[in-house]
Amino acid sequence: MTEAPIGMFDSGVGGLSIYRETRQVLPGHDVIYVADQGYGMYGERSLAEVSKRSETVTRFLIDHGATTIVVACNSASAAALHHLRTQFPEVTFVGMEPAIKLAAGLSRNGKIGVLATDATFQGELFASVVDRHAADHEVITKPCPGLAAAIEAGDPATDNLIERYVGDVVGRGADVVVLACTHYSLVKDRIAAAAGTATVVDPAPAVARQVMRVVDSPHGSSQGSAAFHTTADPYRFSGQLRQLLGVVATPGSVEL
Ligand code: DGL
Repeated sequence: MTEAPIGMFDSGVGGLSIYRETRQVLPGHDVIYVADQGYGMYGERSLAEVSKRSETVTRFLIDHGATTIVVACNSASAAALHHLRTQFPEVTFVGMEPAIKLAAGLSRNGKIGVLATDATFQGELFASVVDRHAADHEVITKPCPGLAAAIEAGDPATDNLIERYVGDVVGRGADVVVLACTHYSLVKDRIAAAAGTATVVDPAPAVARQVMRVVDSPHGSSQGSAAFHTTADPYRFSGQLRQLLGVVATPGSVEL
């Protein structure tokens, strides 16, 4: 039986943290992944721009057969998830919602630090999640300009930025630190080292379980395929896939 592939997108490599976890729980499903590296970083654009662009990338994934789409980017989820669900009611979307509920359950002192892009904090989604799950907590928001871009580029400045941003929220008393940008999950060990005794919450495994719940079609025992696409340089993306996931692939180049 041929089943619809799962679509996924991010501004770049961040969503690979979700791809990796999804592969663990759904090894037999085909996946199409778009790294929108020609347009990113999303976190530094306006919500309106990211929303429009997310619609364009979604159309590409639908044209390639996806009926389930994972918005594997907190910034795009903040900017566009609601709009995408309205615009494409036939598609099942799984988006990134900052893991505030989980963090509220883990915090012993009631102080939750959240690391994300500016775009994520600006969206209504963030305020509503805090309202619903942590109204009685102190939520310490920390926009992290440059961090996702440094991770994307494999820039050695990444460690300094981590020290600075994580040091700030932990210094302000957070005993739980939420990773609310999919790029940050790729350097979770380095963030945990900087966080010391504070607990780091990575939402990627929970998002993958949610994908598993919504993809309810039966699947065979064979390994699912993965088609990677980038809106920038496929050679560079191929190197990133090898380095970050150990995956050898020939990404397609797509103009959107
Ligand atoms: N990976 C994206 C996120 O989860 C952000 C990176 C960007 O700024 O494009 O927010």
